[in-house]
Parts: sequence; C-alpha cells; structure tokens
Amino acid sequence: MMKKTIFFLLGLSFFLSIQEKVSAQNDTPLWAKETPEQKTKRMQWWTHDRFGMFIHWGIYALPARHEWVKNRERISDEAYQTYFDHFNPDLYNPEEWAAKAKAAGVKYVVITTKHHDGFCLWDSKYTDFKVTNTPYKKDLIRPFVEAFRNAGIQIGFYYSLIDWHHPDFPYDRMHPNAPQTKEERVKANEKRNLKKYQQYMKDQLTELLTQYGQIDELFLDFSYPGEEGKGHEDWDAEGLLKVIRKLQPQILVDNRLDLDDTTWGWDFVTPEQFMPQEWPTVNGVRVPWETCQTFSGSWGYYRDEYTWKSPHQLVVMLIETVSKGGNLLLNVGPTARGVFDDRADERLSAIGRWMKFHSRSIYGCTQAPDDFKVPQNCFLTYNPETKRLYIHVLEWPFKSLNLPGYKGRIKYAQLLNDDSEIQFRTQAVKGSHTTESTGEDDVILSLPVERPDVEVPVIELILN
Ligand code: GLC
Repeated sequence: MMKKTIFFLLGLSFFLSIQEKVSAQNDTPLWAKETPEQKTKRMQWWTHDRFGMFIHWGIYALPARHEWVKNRERISDEAYQTYFDHFNPDLYNPEEWAAKAKAAGVKYVVITTKHHDGFCLWDSKYTDFKVTNTPYKKDLIRPFVEAFRNAGIQIGFYYSLIDWHHPDFPYDRMHPNAPQTKEERVKANEKRNLKKYQQYMKDQLTELLTQYGQIDELFLDFSYPGEEGKGHEDWDAEGLLKVIRKLQPQILVDNRLDLDDTTWGWDFVTPEQFMPQEWPTVNGVRVPWETCQTFSGSWGYYRDEYTWKSPHQLVVMLIETVSKGGNLLLNVGPTARGVFDDRADERLSAIGRWMKFHSRSIYGCTQAPDDFKVPQNCFLTYNPETKRLYIHVLEWPFKSLNLPGYKGRIKYAQLLNDDSEIQFRTQAVKGSHTTESTGEDDVILSLPVERPDVEVPVIELILN
C-alpha cells in the first residue's frame, strides 16, 4: 500500500514537472498559458489609453550628452564614477512631473529603474551602484510611483537587461569597457559568471515587482543575439519571465527578451524612433504595438541636441500612431537637477492644449475599418464602442472636404474642438463657375474657410 502510494506520488510529480515545462499543444510553458481572449482583456486598459510617457533618467543626465555616453566615449568605471559622486537632483518633485504628464493627456508612464550603465534609481539591496549612495541619498522610485499613481496614471518600469557595471555581466561587442581583442575578452569573461548575473536580474525585478504595488507595464531592454551578442539564453529569458508573471500576472511585457519566435514571450512589439507604414503584423496577424519616440533623438537629457520635433509633428505622430492601431510612448529626459527642461515643457503643454479638446479621438480609438476610405491629407481614427469616426485634417482645405463612399453612413458631423455642426451634402454644387464633381456615393463636408485654431483640427462623424 505504502509502496503504491509512493510510486503514485513519484509518477504524479514527474508528470507535473513535464506538464510544467511544456503544454501539450504548442510549446507554451504551463505558467504562460492564456487564451487570446484573456490576453486581450489583460491588455484592455493599454489599448484604450494609447498615450504613455517614457522617462529616461539616471546619472547620464550629468554629462548631458546621451544615455549611451559611457559606451560612445568608452568611459571607464572610474571616470564614470564622477557622475555618481555628483548626482544630486535637488529640484526633483515627482508631483510636478505627474501634473505635467496628466495635463498633456498621458495615461501611463514608464520610468528607467536601471539603464545600460547599471545605475539603479531605487534602493536595491543587491548593489551599491544606486541612488541611495549618491549625494542625493534617497530612493527616487517610491515617491515617483506615489505621485503618478495619485494623478491617476498607470505605472510602468523600464529595466535594462544590459549592465555595463555589473562584474558578472560578460563582456561583449557592445560593452564600453571590454578588452580590445576577442581573445582578451574571452579570457576576461572566464572570471565573469553569467549565472550570477541572471540571478541578479531576477532578484532586482523581484524587488521592483513586490515593493511598489501593481506595476502595469515592464519594458525590458534589449537583446542583440549573434556574434558576441546576447539573447534569450544569456538572460534566461524564460526563467525571468516566469518570475515576472508570477509576481504580477496582469503586467504587460515588451518584446525585447529575444522570445519573438514564441507566442507567449511578449505582449507587444516596440518600433523605436520609427513610424511603421501600417499596423505591424506577425505571421500575417495584426499585433499590439507601442512606438517609443523622443523629442530630440536622445532619451537621456542632452543639452546640446537641437533636432527637436515641433509640437505639430508630435501631435501628428500621436494621431498617426493611433490611426494604425498603436500606442505612443513619448520620452522626456529630465535634467540632473530633476526637472523637465523648457523645450520638453513647451511640447508637453502644446500636446496638452490639443488633447484637452481632442482626446476623444485618441482614447479608446484605433484604426478605422478598411471600408472607410481616408480622405485627402487626413488621418482617420475610430472608436469601435461609440462608433464614431474622427477625421484629422492635416491640411485644411478650402470650403469642402470630399469623403469618398461615405453616403448614407453619417448621422451627424461636428468639429471636435467646439462641437459646432458641420453640414454635409451628397450633391455637387452646380453653378456657372464651378466644376465640382462627386462620385455617386461621396459626401461633401462644408467647412468654414477659417481653419480652427488648433494644432490639428478634427471632425467627428457620428455614424448611422
Ligand atoms: C534602446 C536604447 C536606449 C533606450 C531604448 C528605448 O534600445 O539602448 O538607450 O533606452 O532603446 O526604447
């Protein structure tokens, strides 16, 4: 009897351990199993909210010439230490940041808890290379999370997989302090224990995902497989994701763990500083996507960078992203004093001015159904719940806007900035001095000659 029970238990645990590794159908580990409906539901807040703020902040704000400065200028650990020793953001006031984000219409935020240089913005017990050991002495993440959460903004953490400070992170083709020759690198790496680094990431992510309440998005950055690169095996990506999902089952994770070939190793794709031509697909299926973009080409504060996008470009970027079914994560790089610089402030206020009157064409919206043709010089967004279609008019036309094939589909039309009626007709104007011609199924909107005084005017169509 006793023997039988033991055999039964042994058999059961063997079965369970196999089950745990791989589920029957498609190589999805058991812990990652989820139906497409469950995934859609988990992502619902995010596909609704559409607009997030990225924040890149760390001791690289002191050199103020890109967050990759350690790599670009091959700065040694000793020399980089200067920035650590001088980091003291005396003006840091996360309530102010949160208020600015909120006024801009931002619904979620993603902050760099650790970037590639390895510097940690929280009081991690697994390293000394952290903010609490700088002259500032205090944890930056806790007050940040509180302030943004109080402002009703969802919280995301960026965590760098790459670490140019950790003594067990093996040298590779990108490491700024790697020995010159491959031979030397291989030799030096004998002293570096990748397993220890993998554990370090698990420990740190455990801190981040257990000490700050619910975390809504995790942005892991990034993989570069191949010759002297790093990919999923180096990170123990599967093991890492398992820890993450266990601690925060609802969290949304980006696609930079080098698990792109799986269906379960990522929630959304991340085109960076790039606008896709159309809604990105994987195996022919449209997937959730979030494009991360900068104001000026650098993520960290860059004093002497002057290729800043205009407010107009940024508003159009937000519209274009949503018109293709995506999210925009727009970056601010605060200064080493702990404030947003004027150029960022100006842009955020401009976006906020537009969002105040037009957010209805962004939140809850997505790409319009294919049978709505895009009118000339416009982008379309569509809210599938309210069934309203938004025409974002990039170039204001003279008096009429032709909507090809819209006949019978519109109940009412108005300008979104003031809810003022836009009259429409299906008959071309016939006069001795006009040659207006319309297709049988076209609708013509009668627009005021004066362009509404907003960054991008939007016409709201209430559909039949
Ligand atoms: C990158 C860069 C980086 C930035 C990030 C944002 O991969 O390495 O500095 O943090 O993308 O997406």
